[in-house]
Amino acid sequence: MPGLLLNTLRGAVTDQRPVWLMRQAGRYLPEYRALRAEKGGFLELVYDSDAAAEVTLQPIRRFGFDGAILFSDILIVPHALGQNLQFLAGEGPHLSPRLVDATLSSLEAAPHHFEPVYETVRKVRAALGPETTMLGFIGSPWTVATYMVTGEGSRDHHVARAMAYRDPVAFAEIIDAIVESSITYLSGQIEAGAEAVQLFDSWSGSLSPQQFERWVVAPTARIVDTIRQRHPHVPIIGFPKGAGGKLPAYARETGVDAIGVDETVDPHWIHRELPASMPVQGNLDPLLLISGGAELEEAARTVLRAFEGRPHVFNLGHGIDKTTPIAHVERLLEIVRSDKA
Ligand code: CP3
Repeated sequence: MPGLLLNTLRGAVTDQRPVWLMRQAGRYLPEYRALRAEKGGFLELVYDSDAAAEVTLQPIRRFGFDGAILFSDILIVPHALGQNLQFLAGEGPHLSPRLVDATLSSLEAAPHHFEPVYETVRKVRAALGPETTMLGFIGSPWTVATYMVTGEGSRDHHVARAMAYRDPVAFAEIIDAIVESSITYLSGQIEAGAEAVQLFDSWSGSLSPQQFERWVVAPTARIVDTIRQRHPHVPIIGFPKGAGGKLPAYARETGVDAIGVDETVDPHWIHRELPASMPVQGNLDPLLLISGGAELEEAARTVLRAFEGRPHVFNLGHGIDKTTPIAHVERLLEIVRSDKA
């Protein structure tokens, strides 16, 4: 029997909503901070499959979420494509050489980096009960390219956006390499036991409509087509954060099965705009989970009511913040799980 989350992603409308939270494994949990301190760093955790499996399972043990998302990162693909990857304390990720001034062909591919991640998926799937869905993920090509080109995070992604205009041929080569590597990596996760997958497109909001079609919709559609052919039973969630008014086109044109919606989107609007059978995931503001109280309860109920009658996965509009009190996560789960339509 598939769990509540997998059923919903396949289109079932259920009384009780499945719930998981983006970034549910991480720094708001003391048991995560302890293991991270012991292992010395984030990548040390990701590439140690016992540790990564343990971190993936920590929020499941504590809260019983309906989905367990693989503990890894979207930047494993650039690492496998041959860039050096470092997470420096307090600074976020660094990739070198950055592709604004180096070519892809100068890199030596390192596909072995995927192996421990597949091992993590196998270990987590073996440890989970049938009611919990194992979620794999990748970053979408545009979002991953912003890091590969710039070498680090950036506020408005202007280095990558400027390169896409100045040298679309070179930029397309980077996108194509990410597409190919992501297909391999996502297939590997599915073969290791991921039952549904999410495509994180955190920076899709920074593009003009034409560039959005070219660098978000088209490459995402290639990944979706190939994964669907190889693994027709695995639902694919697309999460184009910040896409706003471009969400309905993204939903139609990429072919994703389900759509993740951030907190800036009016749930009533997106409910009207999308086909009634399409599962939607979201979209509580993660900052409400820091403040808690009556506002949290009211906002959670607003999300539940807005998506009534369609397949809906309760989630945040983006990742949980590291300052979130655990008691507020517990309260949110009570609200979602005691909800009767
Ligand atoms: O959701 C989960 O719990 C699964 C694991 C996961 C991580 N990153 C773990 C992580 C997932 C799905 C991601 C996705 C990811 N990584 C995205 C897309 C989603 C989003 O949040 O927008 C992006 C843009 C990245 C790149 C990345 N990784 C950045 C910019 C940073 C540094 C900023 C930060 O939050 O620390 C990371 C590091 C990272 N990835 C951490 C975790 C738990 C923090 C590592 C630590 O210091 O312990």
